[in-house]
Amino acid sequence: RITPLVMAGGAGTRLWPASREAAPKQFITLMGGHSTFQDTILRVSDPALFAKPVVVTGHRYHFMVREQLAEIGIEAEIVLEPMRRDSGPAIAAGAALLAARDPDALMLVLASDHVVRDEVSFRQAVTRAAGAARLGGAVAFGIEPDHPATGYGYLKPGAATKDEGVLVLDAFVEKPDAERAADYVGSGYLWNSGNFLFRVESLLAEYERFDPATVEAVRQAVSQAGDDAGSIVLEADAFAKATALSIDYAVMEKTSQARVVPVSMGWSDVGSWHAVWEIAEKDAAGNAVHLGKKGHAVFVEASDNYVRADDLVCLVGVSNLAVVQTRDATLVYDRSRQDAMKTLVRELERRG
Ligand code: GDD
Ligand code: MG
Repeated sequence: RITPLVMAGGAGTRLWPASREAAPKQFITLMGGHSTFQDTILRVSDPALFAKPVVVTGHRYHFMVREQLAEIGIEAEIVLEPMRRDSGPAIAAGAALLAARDPDALMLVLASDHVVRDEVSFRQAVTRAAGAARLGGAVAFGIEPDHPATGYGYLKPGAATKDEGVLVLDAFVEKPDAERAADYVGSGYLWNSGNFLFRVESLLAEYERFDPATVEAVRQAVSQAGDDAGSIVLEADAFAKATALSIDYAVMEKTSQARVVPVSMGWSDVGSWHAVWEIAEKDAAGNAVHLGKKGHAVFVEASDNYVRADDLVCLVGVSNLAVVQTRDATLVYDRSRQDAMKTLVRELERRG
């Protein structure tokens, strides 16, 4: 069986003001129903294929993770990071934890803030990747790109392997600039979905080659870990010595042993309000709404807008806007200007 490692420690700043440091994207209800964190856990809850999941997150989200797991009635092992060190150390710590129990364990790393609409294709891709991962090296999941996004990693698919649906990964480029992204889309590269599958010992061995200090740091943080109400608390002095770098830069860009499974699974990383609008249900005029308990939206000669509101919001004679209204902040922006959102987030951070 495969052990899912759910990464739930990110800050999700691009969906401000609904996603905040205190309640980031992965824990909010984006589409109605469950949070993407809960959907991610549910997606890997079949005991025939998956072992009990491990959730890696920060102390500040400990309670939220417990509450959201209780809501869906699923148990997980929780690992707490004493400080944010990006995804690399979180994944390496998960691998070290599992390797201490079983060096042959297979680990499926999952982002907790993505939407996957086609679970059958997801499972098929995971099963294919598991077969390939037993031989060593990390397996990435490749998504057919539809525009030259600069916020993703790009995978260059290479030769077929003897495993059906599994290709050699010829190159991995994390977040290229716009010009290179356009080149890549034109020459058949795939987007990195941000999920990976590997044998834990093989990941640690690769990491060891590129950044031995981090592997040493997480091994120590795991072996000297404490306990907080049943959750594993990584030892702080050791974990602090891990390099703050995502797995994409730390390992995936450097390795020559990886493979890729191309998959079409209704994937979205819902990285902007535009992306939320794209996958949301719309009325005949193309307007989509997500309303809080007292929320209400009225549209007059308005089309193709996205409204998320806790109170009454009216749009008159406008189109292609995203309007996000919360208790203490309101955002209005042109959906075609996702790039400008990054500038706003930086500006807000600067103002504190
Ligand atoms: N536990 C923990 N600790 N989780 C973290 C941390 C951390 O310090 N930092 C980030 N995460 C989690 C996030 O919550 C998210 O689920 C996942 O790790 C990925 O982090 P992001 O910050 O969202 O990465 P990204 O979107 O910029 O890029 C990654 O995902 C893209 C696809 O959405 C990369 O893997 C790209 O290559 C990929 O294309
Ligand atoms: Mg992301």
